Amino acid sequence: MGIKEIDLIDPKKLPCHIAIIMDGNGRWAQKRGLPRIAGHWAGAEALRSIVEFCAELKIKVLTVYAFSTENWKRPYEEVKTILNLLVYYLKKEVDNLNRNNIKLMVTGDWQELPYRIREEIKKSVELTSNNTGLILNVALNYGSRREIVKACKTISRLVDNGRLKPEEIDEKLFEKYLFTAGLPDPDLLIRPSGELRLSNFLLWQIAYSELWFCDTYWPDFKKEHLVQALLDFQRRERRFGGLTK
Ligand code: IPE
Ligand code: IPE
Ligand code: MG
Repeated sequence: MGIKEIDLIDPKKLPCHIAIIMDGNGRWAQKRGLPRIAGHWAGAEALRSIVEFCAELKIKVLTVYAFSTENWKRPYEEVKTILNLLVYYLKKEVDNLNRNNIKLMVTGDWQELPYRIREEIKKSVELTSNNTGLILNVALNYGSRREIVKACKTISRLVDNGRLKPEEIDEKLFEKYLFTAGLPDPDLLIRPSGELRLSNFLLWQIAYSELWFCDTYWPDFKKEHLVQALLDFQRRERRFGGLTK
């Protein structure tokens, strides 16, 4: 593995937007007899090298699922530690992001998070806002159904106060009210850890994404896995409902 396979990647056929469901942290830790939170720490480390690799490849957007609207169902201690860790990570990574010209974006209902966390997020986003390379989009307190309902509410209000006609609502307009407004749809969605489901992630946006699964737990997910995903992606034929040329 390594150099050879990387060299097989066709730079002209890279996905513009990669989305990753960073799953398997808890099981990674349990397998080692460690507390689940150790898995979340290891997961944050795994993210760093994948982010840097995506920047190197000149991928435009990397969206990572870090905390879902359903993850609040977990024990309070785990939720608290995950959120603190995420904020610690975002803060600590700012220099590294700037060095690599990476722009941070946070997607989801993060405005609902505690004040201290919101302030830290705003600061990190602001400090990387002039970067022009990879967009690292972190989905935090994100839920796709909630995102879609929210968009419907905003659009209904516009109709209600006469600023929009129902006939004017189309897919393009609808997308403007999603958290991902302005971003291209993911071309490739990756879920490690052996789970074959979407868990409420980007349901609208992945209508035509290529899906790629592997059994590796996220903390063990390396550049090599991404290379494999990219090579598989480049071998696939995307028809978008049309026919092969
Ligand atoms: C993903 O790992 C991280 C979050 C959901 C925050 P998990 O914590 O879901 O790990 P598993 O799936 O239980 O192994
Ligand atoms: C999805 O993983 C959410 C994140 C990775 C942040 P979960 O572990 O929460 O998903 P389920 O519960 O296995 O579907
Ligand atoms: Mg999980």
